[in-house]
Amino acid sequence: MDTLSSMEIEQVLHMNGGDGKTSYSNNSSIQKRGMYEAKPMLEDSIKMLFCDNSFPCCLKIVTSGFTARLMEEKGSDFGPCFIAAVPGTFYGRLFPNNFLHFVHSSYSLHWRSQVPETLVSESGAALNKGNICMAKTSPHTVHKAYFDVFKRDFKLFLKLRFEEMVPGGHMVLTMVGSKIRTSSSKTCTVWELMGMALYDMVLEGLIEEAKLDGFNLPYYAPTPEEVKHVIRRKNVARNIRAIAEPLLENHFTNANMDDLFERFADKIADYLEKERGQCTTIAVSMIKA
Ligand SMILES: C[S@@+](CC[C@H](N)C(=O)[O-])C[C@H]1O[C@@H](n2cnc3c(N)ncnc32)[C@H](O)[C@@H]1O
Repeated sequence: MDTLSSMEIEQVLHMNGGDGKTSYSNNSSIQKRGMYEAKPMLEDSIKMLFCDNSFPCCLKIVTSGFTARLMEEKGSDFGPCFIAAVPGTFYGRLFPNNFLHFVHSSYSLHWRSQVPETLVSESGAALNKGNICMAKTSPHTVHKAYFDVFKRDFKLFLKLRFEEMVPGGHMVLTMVGSKIRTSSSKTCTVWELMGMALYDMVLEGLIEEAKLDGFNLPYYAPTPEEVKHVIRRKNVARNIRAIAEPLLENHFTNANMDDLFERFADKIADYLEKERGQCTTIAVSMIKA
């Protein structure tokens, strides 16, 4: 099985270049529509950042694609601006600590850092036969393998960006998602249809079956619940860290608190997968007789 390594993915996962008929720049109307839909959220987030007293005189923003479009729409008519392209994967560190005021990622976070390693059985047989990514007909093990990579990647992305953002910085993310998954649903993703087209070519002897069996995309479109799940885990861990860190640090003097709270966040994630998170608050109002 010739599964792509994460290094190879960095080399080959890019959109069609140039401005020809099959170029990304001329064929990204879906992403454009998504950007317009996300625009109010983006604007609200930037306005909130503006209203904050600690608003900086220089705003550092990292976007993928957005700035180029801004220039296309407004020409050079928007204020002084320094634009930098940063080489490297967003599943690694890109900026110094406490550096970014606003982070926006548009239509990219459904791409995984790697194809799950567990898409073959112990005997080497393809487990996701007939599909090229997570699909309705994929067995549970394949779903779990993709979901695990999604959780790991998304957690890592948030951790790294939070390190790079200033306290109070804002982040807006858009990505391709899935509605609730049911195997009985009649709808198909485009990648399921692409898998069918490739399979037709196998049947016509134009592609080797083993080649198709060995091809899986580093792609997973999470459900809103799955995204919330990863974000919630982080929020709960941060809330508890704000309360308990001084006590814990005082007693466990040699323990690394970042490490402890990452592990704690994982425990929360595992727990929230099975149970509902609950917090009981008692409020008492009294009047002196
Ligand atoms: C569908 S395009 C979106 C481009 C642009 N943001 C837009 O909205 O038109 C997805 C982009 O994500 C980039 N990408 C995917 N995985 C990445 C990673 N790990 N690190 C950095 N960029 C990545 C791809 O190279 C591609 O340019």
